[in-house]
Amino acid sequence: MINDLGKIIKSCQEGIAWAVDILRRGGLVAFPTETVYGLGADAGNLQAVHRIFAVKNRPVNHPLIVHLAEPAALDRWAREIPDVAWRLAQRFWPGPLTLILKRRPEALDIVTGGQDTVGLRCPAHPVALTLLQAFDGALAAPSANRFGRLSPTCAADVVVELGNSIECILDGGECVIGIESTILDLSGSGGSAARVLRPGAITALHLSEILGEIPKGPTVGSPRAPGGRAGHYAPRSPLLLVEDGCFDDVVQLYLNAGATVAVLARRPPRVNQTGVLWKVMPTDPVSYARILYAQLREVDVVSPQRILVESLPSSHEWDAIRDRLRRASVGSVNRSLNLNP
Ligand code: TXA
Ligand code: MG
Repeated sequence: MINDLGKIIKSCQEGIAWAVDILRRGGLVAFPTETVYGLGADAGNLQAVHRIFAVKNRPVNHPLIVHLAEPAALDRWAREIPDVAWRLAQRFWPGPLTLILKRRPEALDIVTGGQDTVGLRCPAHPVALTLLQAFDGALAAPSANRFGRLSPTCAADVVVELGNSIECILDGGECVIGIESTILDLSGSGGSAARVLRPGAITALHLSEILGEIPKGPTVGSPRAPGGRAGHYAPRSPLLLVEDGCFDDVVQLYLNAGATVAVLARRPPRVNQTGVLWKVMPTDPVSYARILYAQLREVDVVSPQRILVESLPSSHEWDAIRDRLRRASVGSVNRSLNLNP
């Protein structure tokens, strides 16, 4: 059942039972969701949840998403639930949507970051759902990476990120969505001021089907605007988003300067760009998101001096990918090239 990487467990019946036992004893279990792998702990166990923060090196004021086995569990965690929350849950759960609602007092402060709200989501991955049902409780789970890094989208990525620090990793293959859930804040009065705090595969347009209007983004300066602050979801190598119009010129500039460059673009390299580690990305946003983190991890392994990413279309379906790449690029522009003279 346990493979040679030591901690990876197949998600068969015995594997799930093993993971549930670990969770009941206050341990940590990484598990697959349809978005990215999560690092789960019993949401009602203070020590267990504390360990999540220690293992990830995450500041304790960053609240965690509580994962539920079914929409009906919403009111065990939230209060004053607006109608629209139930309708969104009915339409999009299980699925990649996190709802921020007013919390019940029973929710632990360590889970909510001491705020009056709680983030809730019912994941669509069959392994996550089977685990939640077998555990018969809720799991607090951030993405299973060290704080600020790329989220893992397969079990082997979790080993790289956290392998030494956690009890087990349930293997559910590669995540089909590949980027984190959409976070929608419904904790404003009457549920009327719905705001997307983090874009995801469920776009503002999808949400508007239920909300009746396109939701706005986070208020500027909101201290807890999730998805974290800018500078999240970052590879180690500096990443630059480069406008289409000058992409070839910028690649050439770096090559002329003798820099090692990796590229993510939605087209193959031209003849004079063959020396570049070039990843041809899909032209549709769903496939692009699915492989984005895996591709970034792959190029990051060779530590290029720059990862150059071709900028993306401005339509809603690309919102989440633009958001992650923008965050990944923060702080990169001014990083020195350190070229040999
Ligand atoms: O797809 C996902 O959402 C994945 C999988 C594992 O479910 N989880 C995930 O968790 O991305 P994490 O912790 O890496 O990102 C969750 C974000 C954090 O930035 C956190 O600040 C925000 O959600 N969040 C959680 N509860 C919140 C709350 N009550 N109010 C505002 N933001 C909240
Ligand atoms: Mg995360």
